[in-house]
Amino acid sequence: CAADQSSCGCCLMQRQISRMERLFNKSVNLLKDELMSSKLILNNVRSRSAFSVALNNNSAVTSYGPFSSDSIIKYKHIFINLGDGYNAETGIFTVPRSGVYSLSVTIYGTARLILNNCATLQVNNQNVAELTEKNGQDLEDSNTAVVAVQLKAGDRVSVKLLQGCSINDDFNHYNTFTGFLLYASD
Ligand SMILES: *[C@@H]1O[C@H](CO)[C@@H](O)[C@H](O)[C@H]1NC(C)=O
Ligand SMILES: *[C@@H]1O[C@H](CO)[C@@H](O)[C@H](O)[C@H]1NC(C)=O
Repeated sequence: CAADQSSCGCCLMQRQISRMERLFNKSVNLLKDELMSSKLILNNVRSRSAFSVALNNNSAVTSYGPFSSDSIIKYKHIFINLGDGYNAETGIFTVPRSGVYSLSVTIYGTARLILNNCATLQVNNQNVAELTEKNGQDLEDSNTAVVAVQLKAGDRVSVKLLQGCSINDDFNHYNTFTGFLLYASD
């Protein structure tokens, strides 16, 4: 500055500019980091999908069925319904996000005379796994199916009680239907 008065102002300005540039870069980088972590959190929230339900929570054992045709079991007692994929009015789990899902069903029945314990796990009305025990000699039956399947967003998962079959439950939750996303694929 002392040597060249004319370039002094310009020199100071340049120093100021480069200081501002450093500050600006730092702010931008901070924002980038924040954005990255927000995206990660959002992604985790989006991929939350888990439901687990039981037939009812009655204090006394209640019979469900038999019906004159195959009908979707409407599980009324909800343990968890993360992502709201399960609808207790229809008994249907609508897949919110494509991926590999774990699905499991346990049915239980008790009877004095004829015990027909049968249901089927379905995706879009197609059988995935059937549970059946008919004409048993005992008075109680229980069946379980556990599968891992690739599902697409919008697929409909349900359990159908087969014609003429019945199940029984109370607050002990002998009949459960559970599904959760293992790996998202979109
Ligand atoms: C600011 O970032 C740009 C682009 O990444 C870079 O070219 C420039 O040298 C950086 N400036 C400072 C002062 O760090
Ligand atoms: C389910 O039934 C049990 C036993 O009767 C009771 O303690 C509990 O509060 C009930 N849960 C719900 C969600 O109704």
